Amino acid sequence: MRKPFVAGNWKMNTDSDSAVKLAEAIAVGSLETAGQSVDVMVCPPFVYLQSVGRAIDGSSVTLGSQNVYTESEGAFTGEISTSMLKDVGCDYVLCGHSERRHVIGETDELINKKLSAALAGGLLPILCVGELIEQRQDNKTEQVITAQIKKGLAGISAEDMEKVTLAYEPVWAIGTGLTATPGQAQQVHALIRKLLSELYNEQLAEKTRIQYGGSAKPDNAAELMAQPDVDGLLVGGASLKADDFVAIIKAAG
Ligand code: PGA
Repeated sequence: MRKPFVAGNWKMNTDSDSAVKLAEAIAVGSLETAGQSVDVMVCPPFVYLQSVGRAIDGSSVTLGSQNVYTESEGAFTGEISTSMLKDVGCDYVLCGHSERRHVIGETDELINKKLSAALAGGLLPILCVGELIEQRQDNKTEQVITAQIKKGLAGISAEDMEKVTLAYEPVWAIGTGLTATPGQAQQVHALIRKLLSELYNEQLAEKTRIQYGGSAKPDNAAELMAQPDVDGLLVGGASLKADDFVAIIKAAG
C-alpha cells in the first residue's frame, strides 16, 4: 500500500508574514490527517524555509525546497546546497519542476545531477516530469515522459530509488485551471510505473509514489486520487489557500 502524499509548491509567492500564517493554518487544519493517513509537505520560497519550519514544528507537516544546486559548497553565487537545506530542516526537494525546465531552462542532465546531489546529501527528491501541449497533440507524451524519466533517473541505484517520489505534471495543466482528466492522469501514471519496473524491478515500481500535479483542487482531488496509480498530489495555486489545501489533504487521506 502506498501512503498518499500531498505536497504544496508555493512557488515565488507569499511574504514573511503570510508564509508563516499559511504554514500555521495548514498544520492546524491537517492535525488529524497529516502523517497518519497522508504525508503532507510544503515547499515555501528559500528565504522563508526557516520561519515556515518553525511554524510547522511539532506538527506532521514536513518541509521541502523548490530547488537545490548540484555542488555542496563554494563559489556558486546565488545557489543553495543540500547541506544548507538540511540545516534549515528540509526533508524533501523538488527536482525538474516544469517551471525550472521551461522558464529557467534546466536540462534533463542538470536535473539528474540535482537529484543525485539531493540523495547524496540526505534529501528526498521529487522528480517532476510532464509534456507540453504540443507534445501531447503530436502524440509524443509517452516518448517525452519516457525520456525525462530515463534521463532524470540515470545512475540512480535501486536502493536510492526507494527515497524518490515522482510527480507527473502535464505542463498544459499547470496553473491553467485545465486539469488532466483522471483517465489521462492514470494512463501516464501507469506508464511511469511500467517504466520503473523495467528500469528497476516490479517491487520497487509498486512501492514508488507517483503524484499528479496540474490544477489540483478540492473538487477534483478525490477523483484523481481514486485512480489506481495516482498516489498523491503536487499542488501549486490551491496550496496557497489553507482551506483549499487542507480540503485536498483530507480528500487524499
Ligand atoms: P498548479 O501548479 O496546481 O497551480 O497547477 C502545480 C505545480 O506547478 O506543481
